[in-house]
Amino acid sequence: MMRSLFGIVFVLVSCSIVAPEVVAQTSGRQVFSAKCATCHKANNSVGGAVAPNLSGVYGRKIASLSDYQYSVPLKHQQGTWDDHSLDAYLAAPQKFAPGGKMADGVSDPKQRAALVKYLKSPQD
Ligand code: HEC
Repeated sequence: MMRSLFGIVFVLVSCSIVAPEVVAQTSGRQVFSAKCATCHKANNSVGGAVAPNLSGVYGRKIASLSDYQYSVPLKHQQGTWDDHSLDAYLAAPQKFAPGGKMADGVSDPKQRAALVKYLKSPQD
């Protein structure tokens, strides 16, 4: 009886240890599908009218697509999208561009890193 109880406890403990690993291994594509794709497209397919197309966003000037009506606060940001600016924006969009149209960020730095990598080459 004690033995099997130990067994169950062991299984429970090891599950809770393994779970964060699984999350950490989540690919950029998976995070994108789960958290961004409702509003954004990351390739050249049609759609994504709610938000700017993110195909080629890495290295692009901030708020520079001519066919998208950006908010004034985002338009006022200088520079291009690189590792640093994307990470800052995705961590806290409302801190990066207060009053901008994108509300929610991604709190997990590993997920942000995976997203930035994915945005560099969404076809991967
Ligand atoms: C609820 C809809 C919504 C979701 C979900 C969303 N965004 Fe956005 N995003 C927007 C909108 C709207 C803008 C335009 C912001 C503005 O004009 O202030 C934007 C702008 C951006 C930009 C700037 C694009 C440019 O051309 O300068 C990037 C980069 C971006 N989003 C990345 C992401 C990523 C990565 C995710 C997933 C973690 C995400 N967004 C989730 C709505 C969304």
